Amino acid sequence: MGKKAKKECEEAGKKVKKEESPCKETFEPLPFEGKTPATIVLLLSSPEEDILVKACEAIRIFAEKGDENKVCLLGLGALGPLCQLITHINKLIRRNAFMALGIMANNGDVRIALKKKDVIPSIIDKLSLAEDAVVHEFATLCLASLSVDFVCKAQIFDNKGLPPLIQLLSSPDPDVSKNSLEIIFNLVQDHQSRLAVRELGGIPPLLDLLKSDFPVIQQLALKTLQNVTTDKDACNTLREEQGFEKIMDILSNMEFRDLHAVALRVVANCMSDSETVQLIQNGGGLTRLMEFVLTPNMPEIQSNAVKCIARVAQSSDNRKLLHEQNVEKVLVELLSLEDVSVKTAACQAVSAMSSHLASKDSFRDLGGIPVVVRLLSDDSLVLREAATQALSNLTHSNQLNAFAVHEAKGHKLLVQQLYGSCPRTVANSAATLGNMAGQEVIRCSVLSHRAIQALVEPLKSRDTQVLVNSTLCLAVLACETEARAELLRARGLHPLVNLLQTYDKEVLHNACWAINVCASDVPTAVEMCKLGALEMLQQINQSVTRRSSFSRLAMISLLNFNLPVKYSLTGHLASTDVISEGFYDAGKVPAGQRILTLVELSEQPVNEQRPIILVNTATGKKTEDDNQKDEIQPEPPTEKPWKMTDDVSLQILLKKAKEFIIPLSDEREQCACLARLVSEAMGGAVEMEKMHEFPWVLHLSELKFQLQSNIVPIGLIRRGIYRHRALLFKCLADCIRMSCTLVRGEYNRAWNEVVLFNGNPSNNERSSKPCRYIVDLMHQPGRLLTASTPAAVHYQTTGI
Ligand SMILES: *[C@@H]1O[C@H](CO)[C@@H](O)[C@H](O)[C@H]1NC(C)=O
Ligand SMILES: *[C@@H]1O[C@H](CO)[C@@H](O)[C@H](O)[C@H]1NC(C)=O
Ligand SMILES: *[C@@H]1O[C@H](CO)[C@@H](O)[C@H](O)[C@H]1NC(C)=O
Ligand SMILES: *[C@@H]1O[C@H](CO)[C@@H](O)[C@H](O)[C@H]1NC(C)=O
Repeated sequence: MGKKAKKECEEAGKKVKKEESPCKETFEPLPFEGKTPATIVLLLSSPEEDILVKACEAIRIFAEKGDENKVCLLGLGALGPLCQLITHINKLIRRNAFMALGIMANNGDVRIALKKKDVIPSIIDKLSLAEDAVVHEFATLCLASLSVDFVCKAQIFDNKGLPPLIQLLSSPDPDVSKNSLEIIFNLVQDHQSRLAVRELGGIPPLLDLLKSDFPVIQQLALKTLQNVTTDKDACNTLREEQGFEKIMDILSNMEFRDLHAVALRVVANCMSDSETVQLIQNGGGLTRLMEFVLTPNMPEIQSNAVKCIARVAQSSDNRKLLHEQNVEKVLVELLSLEDVSVKTAACQAVSAMSSHLASKDSFRDLGGIPVVVRLLSDDSLVLREAATQALSNLTHSNQLNAFAVHEAKGHKLLVQQLYGSCPRTVANSAATLGNMAGQEVIRCSVLSHRAIQALVEPLKSRDTQVLVNSTLCLAVLACETEARAELLRARGLHPLVNLLQTYDKEVLHNACWAINVCASDVPTAVEMCKLGALEMLQQINQSVTRRSSFSRLAMISLLNFNLPVKYSLTGHLASTDVISEGFYDAGKVPAGQRILTLVELSEQPVNEQRPIILVNTATGKKTEDDNQKDEIQPEPPTEKPWKMTDDVSLQILLKKAKEFIIPLSDEREQCACLARLVSEAMGGAVEMEKMHEFPWVLHLSELKFQLQSNIVPIGLIRRGIYRHRALLFKCLADCIRMSCTLVRGEYNRAWNEVVLFNGNPSNNERSSKPCRYIVDLMHQPGRLLTASTPAAVHYQTTGI
């Protein structure tokens, strides 16, 4: 466009004028009568000052006639010389050049060209008070045109344009102050300028402009204040400069109705500051605000006034005050109005007021809850977000409100919100559902609307708040068996387990809690182990900053479903940890290292290390006994594509245990008898002094060699020591339902602890008290060593 215009101008300059070209016109002012624009532009480079004065003037007059002329002058190259002339030492030339440039800069093409000329520093230079008002007027006009562009805005700021511009706000010439105000308004769209305007003392002159005779200036000054007061310090300055009195004057004057919406926004910005609220309250401002809230058919004013109320309600003292003024009633009315921005602002005010306990109840008593629930079906995203926030706050620690939302069928709509795209809406909805689901009746109702499926996507969110709230909601819902099964089916455990990798403390806490709750079923626990939850929890346990009682709880819950890993990691199986088919003792694994599965271990080449001891109680063909056993024992934790060979010797031992030990009536006798059975199977009693002669190491190496495997079934061990005997004892005891623990000590020592009653319980129940014993399986098999006595400690620590 610029090029084309230039060409046309050149042609028009040469040709005899007849066609309707913008440049056909010639100059009327006396000195240049009959001259073409091209000639005048050439004159801008004249050495004679007289000519320059007149040429600038002629350019201005020509440019004033319209955009086509401006583009024409641009094409003829007028900008270059004009940008030079604004710094000319002759005052008149400077002034005329500025007038010409100011007029031309109003055009978009000229602006683009001007941007490239780096003219902003010289313009700012001429804003000094030494220049006359005309220069100020046109220099600011130029900058006002340029300041819509963000590169120019930055240049004005960097070249210290703000101080002189703020000074010019107080110019007696309304054009100068309006132009300066316009530039400043454009600048304060950026954060750095917003702060600078306050620091440079811009607030008092801006407040003075509120009294201007020109509505345009008043409006622009208020808008600028609206932007500036997003900063807290600016609000303080505004208050110190009696700004609120000035703004309240505007709000009280019906002649200034046009200004009320913006004025209310300034007030809203400063309302979080309690001193301001006090100030406004003292001046009867709160009553005035309520009047605005109730102004019918003025949605913009109403919504801004409600925003002020929401801000006022940020402090607890103010909430009390508002509650006394019965603000809840007004807010419930506003929630039913047509205008979306009023309803949104009302929801925000409800959220804020909900921190006042009495207000929560008032909203319910006034029938506000079904009204908010209805807003969940609105088309406006912003309104839905505000409505979910209000419900989240209303139901926080308030059961009656939870029931009210439920009664209004809010839970169904809230579950639908979980599929939405706005993170805050999702987070708020999850929080509300979590608040509500504390009640069993509501929980079941929420689940019936497929809440678990709906939570799966939020669990994959990248938004922290969404994750915090949806994990919490899940933890509350997952206390129902049905919910856990649903989570497994909906593949929700995967994202849940993945959250263990987060570094956000709150998300991690909630995820651990949810995992802990979900671990109360075997299938969900097993699935989470498969997904690597245990390894991740172990890693968390390594980190002082990440581990917590929540992560420990989750780990313990999961380990209870993975006994080989539990024993390897913790070295302790409780009497409630019942060993089942497929249990293996892989020894102590260094913290943080993953414990390999049996299948993975079976694939390793034969090595020099201690064998993995396998407990395989399964028989090839199922007998009646086994069916019975299957009922008692939990499912094996891992799938077994690897085929374990039957351990016939173990089956024989088990048969003996059932035959001989179960019929015994005395617990001590049972214990001693089982100890002897174990000892006989693994080489009999060995004196403490002869331990080093006992050939167990060689025996195990031979077994590994014969089997060509690192995994040795326990029944094959004919020469075993503490560790092997204690495991066999635990395994047989669990099978015949005798309570005992399995504990690993240092140097791979291991032992069993049993709890027996002292005295004869059948004689005198009162006198019998439980006592802990360590079972000797090595030296005097069947001997019971009272725990913590020197003899017991000796058995647990000395030897080899
Ligand atoms: C500044 O205020 C105007 C309205 O006066 C508003 O449209 C604009 O979004 C605000 N700018 C910023 C950055 O807050
Ligand atoms: C209630 O809503 C406000 C937002 O207005 C929020 O900052 C606050 O944390 C919420 N309070 C509760 C208890 O949920
Ligand atoms: C849920 O998320 C919102 C943000 O949307 C937050 O304000 C609120 O405190 C959260 N609620 C809970 C119970 O963590
Ligand atoms: C967790 O870490 C602590 C401290 O390092 C350790 O004592 C404990 O045995 C670990 N727990 C598990 C189950 O690994």
